Amino acid sequence: MKEIKISSSAQEYDSTDELDVDTKTLIQAAREATKNAYAPYSNFKVGAAVLLDNGKIITGNNQENAAYPSGLCAERVAVFAASSQYPDAVIKAVAITAHSDNFIINTPISPCGACRQVLAEYEYKTGKNIKLILTGNKGKVLIIKCVKSLLPFTFDASDLKK
Ligand code: THU
Repeated sequence: MKEIKISSSAQEYDSTDELDVDTKTLIQAAREATKNAYAPYSNFKVGAAVLLDNGKIITGNNQENAAYPSGLCAERVAVFAASSQYPDAVIKAVAITAHSDNFIINTPISPCGACRQVLAEYEYKTGKNIKLILTGNKGKVLIIKCVKSLLPFTFDASDLKK
């Protein structure tokens, strides 16, 4: 099993049993979303569920392509869908998980660098932390208090101004 190093901005739970009902609901939505992933090349189905401040949950999953780089990760599918449908809403939390037909995923799935950059954009836009809830099929759950803690020295809109 992968060793997980925990920083002060992350909390680790042994299983979903220890979590509150809202967090469990968001994880369940992300797990459901893995079922509709289009991942014929990797067979690695990622699901993401975005909780907005208006109470809506918007889900997404990875969408692959024969021209590999043209695909998109679940997190970006989900947050772009959320922002396109509710442009004024604040993203409060994102749950991320994955499913493979070939093996059990028993460590938390963490967003890739490009997805961290995209998530950080919405934190910057609203000035509010986005909580990240990271899980596999079973086992530990990591709750990270904000995207920035996963992306130190973030490049953001402030760098584009004088
Ligand atoms: N993937 C995601 O959807 N999110 C991540 O944060 C990491 C990777 C997808 C991309 C690709 O479709 C598959 O997982 C294997 O890398």
